Amino acid sequence: MNVKLSPSLMCANIEGLSNTLKIFEQNNVEYLHIDVMDGVFVPNLQFGTDYIKQLRRLSHIPLDIHLMIERPEDKLDWFDFHEGEYVSVHVESTRHLQRTLQRIKDKGAKPMAALNPATPLSALDWVWGDIDGVLIMTVNPGYSGQTLVPQTLQKIAECKARAIAADRADIETEVDGNVSPENAVKMAAAGANIYVLGSSCLFRKELTIDDALRTFRQTLRSL
Ligand code: DX5
Ligand code: ZN
Repeated sequence: MNVKLSPSLMCANIEGLSNTLKIFEQNNVEYLHIDVMDGVFVPNLQFGTDYIKQLRRLSHIPLDIHLMIERPEDKLDWFDFHEGEYVSVHVESTRHLQRTLQRIKDKGAKPMAALNPATPLSALDWVWGDIDGVLIMTVNPGYSGQTLVPQTLQKIAECKARAIAADRADIETEVDGNVSPENAVKMAAAGANIYVLGSSCLFRKELTIDDALRTFRQTLRSL
């Protein structure tokens, strides 16, 4: 499956953001990863609906909206989701997962189910037909700069196998958390194809964003 990049804007410096977005466009980045955090589902606050509205004025790159919020079903109408964008909801954050995924689809976006590291894949058993992607958290959500939870590599492989068994080999697998080039090689081998790029890969002092994007793609292309 082809490699898709989704830079995590929570890791991008706010000053020069429009220039950073131009570099993303020049590098044909597939998505912009937007971590929406409510301080309840995760112990952090991040990005709201106004930020998303303003971001759309700065860039046409499709959004990959990661809802780390309690009861997302109560808040979906606060957002203007666009056709072809990913919207991920955590299976742990709602009692009504299937209905919430269906509503995301009804709004024209691509529904994605997100799982924290300890959440079993069995949570997807009855929604394989309702999703276009799975977001495997490879760290515990809420903060950048964390270290990969090692057992999540096996979870990526298991998720891919279950998707194939459910006759959904087309489902994309996104990984989010400590996606360094070194970790990405293992994640790709396990079946990931969308990579959330944050402080582990993209926003580092020693590399320009241009070089980091190019190096990352080359690393995976050489597999
Ligand atoms: C974690 C966030 C991410 C990511 C940031 O909740 O969703 O955006 O971890 O990237 P790293 O882990 O490389 O700093
Ligand atoms: Zn995220």
